Amino acid sequence: MNSPDFFRPGWVAPKNTSVSVDDLRVRICMMDRTDIQRVLEIEEEAFPLFPWTKDEFDRMLLDETVQSAVAIESAEIIGYLIYDFRKEIEKAADYIELLNIAVDIGHRGKHVGSKMVEFLVDRCKSYPDSLIALSVRVGNEQARGFFEKNGFEETEEEPDKFGSLSNENAVRVERIV
Ligand SMILES: CC(C)(COP(=O)(O)OP(=O)(O)OC[C@H]1O[C@@H](n2cnc3c(N)ncnc32)[C@H](O)[C@@H]1OP(=O)(O)O)[C@@H](O)C(=O)NCCC(=O)NCCS
Repeated sequence: MNSPDFFRPGWVAPKNTSVSVDDLRVRICMMDRTDIQRVLEIEEEAFPLFPWTKDEFDRMLLDETVQSAVAIESAEIIGYLIYDFRKEIEKAADYIELLNIAVDIGHRGKHVGSKMVEFLVDRCKSYPDSLIALSVRVGNEQARGFFEKNGFEETEEEPDKFGSLSNENAVRVERIV
């Protein structure tokens, strides 16, 4: 498989990207296998009905087109995001599917999620007209408010998007970088 542009120098995040988020001092680092246990705890709390399993996280870390990052505060992982870089969509030169983003429940509302989106947007900036997109459950008002605040637009409703996992429709949200 060819390496996507995503892996060119410039895409790889520095190991320690330290940012201030409200009253927190948060570092954003690339995820590795040692992070998975804590990430799973956040995942299971954030998506109790259909959390990703450990096997899915293990596979994700081996996938060449997928990258993932964790937000760390005082040596504790408090959030993560996972994104997949593709080049197959006509309307954007570069296309990034945001597969998963979650913040530990005790740290929500402090702009940690927004910082992780900013981290991803920064990495897209050297690619003009790149598009970040994802599907959100229609009833996930929290996430819909979050993405709207972070400059995403809702483009269409997607019936049966989640198949047997949920009978709820999804809504597609996109942000051009
Ligand atoms: C969605 C999520 C990642 C947001 O993370 P967060 O760090 O709490 O969000 P932020 O503090 O950066 O919020 C930024 C903005 O989003 C909006 N927002 C955040 N939480 C919201 C809520 N519960 N309802 C409506 N809008 C909300 C607000 O406008 C907020 O800005 P403000 O605080 O200046 O008003 C977090 O709530 C989460 O982990 N949810 C569960 C997992 C999930 O649904 N993920 C998305 C689908 S993949």
